[in-house]
Amino acid sequence: MTASVLEIEQLRLSLPGAARPVLDGVDLTVAAGETVALVGESGSGKTLTSRAALGLLPPGAVTSGAVRVAGDDVLAMDAERLRRVRARTAAMVFQDPRAAINPLRRIGDFLTEGLRAEAGRARRAERRGGFDTGARGGGLLTADGRRGRRPQGQGGTGPDARTAELLPEGMRADAGRGERSRGQGSAGSDARVAGRLPEGVRADAGRGERTQRQGSAGSDARAPELLLEGMRADTGRGERAPLQGGADPDARAAELLDAVGLSAQVMRRYPHELSGGMLQRVMIAGALMAGPRLLLADEPTTALDVTTQAEIVALLAGLRERFGTGLLFVTHDLELAAAISDRVYVMYAGRIAESGPAGALFGAPGHPYTAALLSSTPRLEAPPGHLPAIPGRPPDLRTELPGCAFAPRCAHATDRCGTETPALRPLDAGTVVACHHAAELTLGEGATP
Ligand SMILES: Nc1ncnc2c1ncn2[C@@H]1O[C@H](COP(=O)(O)OP(=O)(O)OP(=O)(O)O)[C@@H](O)[C@H]1O
Ligand code: SF4
Ligand SMILES: [Mg+2]
Repeated sequence: MTASVLEIEQLRLSLPGAARPVLDGVDLTVAAGETVALVGESGSGKTLTSRAALGLLPPGAVTSGAVRVAGDDVLAMDAERLRRVRARTAAMVFQDPRAAINPLRRIGDFLTEGLRAEAGRARRAERRGGFDTGARGGGLLTADGRRGRRPQGQGGTGPDARTAELLPEGMRADAGRGERSRGQGSAGSDARVAGRLPEGVRADAGRGERTQRQGSAGSDARAPELLLEGMRADTGRGERAPLQGGADPDARAAELLDAVGLSAQVMRRYPHELSGGMLQRVMIAGALMAGPRLLLADEPTTALDVTTQAEIVALLAGLRERFGTGLLFVTHDLELAAAISDRVYVMYAGRIAESGPAGALFGAPGHPYTAALLSSTPRLEAPPGHLPAIPGRPPDLRTELPGCAFAPRCAHATDRCGTETPALRPLDAGTVVACHHAAELTLGEGATP
């Protein structure tokens, strides 16, 4: 069995002033080399779940359960170990790269500063005969909003943490993107990704071939080696050995830029000189610099146009496959989730409503909420002016949820649903569903709630 790079077990997260836990018994795993999508309406807890993997919790949060990254529970770590996880084992790609990359520093500095600092720390540690504990990443915005080079050695606030803290809370994404074609095919994720790409930018994401816009020549063959080299250097338990003195950060950055379809000349440019799509590629290259085992992508394409979005998705899928990184992809877009992921988790009001293989879950949803989400997807063939929506609103945090959280909006609700919280149970389709009546319901794709 493939080892999990992320194991979230019965995660419960409570915030001051809320009447119920914001995350309520979340179970979620991502295996090495696997793409897992986390979908759900706004406010369901997707971002909090992914941030928990980096130990990035809101102030005052009280947690129980476990969040293991490469086997180690980040909820039980001290600040120094957390910093190492954020620096080396897990990385995050955010929705808006402009909000995360320091506009005053060149792209090359953003990419290499962390490796240079780490190499320096490694040398110092070697001299002391100890173990390096440095953090990666430079050129990011600082936690207090000031820009510029970050002082080193601040416990518990790695670069990803600082980036995340700067993001506006609950970035709201546009659920409908229009121009969306159905994620065709139930075959491998590569075929589904390719099916989503507009003509002219179709890529073979699985084999790592370039899209037309990414150019032709390059070192695809070298880039995976680069990452693998970093992963081989792991010393077990998710911690990487210090960089070797011979590693050249510029060469490494150039090769990763090449892997994401950008020229090394980009390193001399400033963020404002790049398009949003180029910056997101830089962000992805930056996230891969340390050879993470786990990549967390929180709505990474929402701020991009449809064509660039498709390219970035194909790129992430290709990189994930070549580098064997586990990818947790947070999205509102069910079709995107179906197109790129091996497995999907559907979240509602801080609980997992349903999870399973993408094909089974979307082909034969077992939870009325999954079916409702699918039927709410805008369709080009729908009559003009018809925008299907799930009736009612998700419960806010002032509302206690004694039974099934979806009961007030569910056409199949019974008295039991209002008082008894349904547990996750396996269904024949291969999915796991938290619904008292899932076994009796027939909810094809497009079924109404
Ligand atoms: N720092 C915080 N302080 C207080 N409440 C928070 C904080 N962060 C998130 N929440 C609340 O927790 C709930 C889940 O938020 P989260 O951002 O995880 O949702 P989401 O599923 O990512 O939504 P979206 O799709 O809009 O990004 C929301 O009700 C949100 O208001
Ligand atoms: S448990 Fe009841 S209310 Fe909840 S989804 Fe199932 S039928 Fe609907
Ligand atoms: Mg979010």
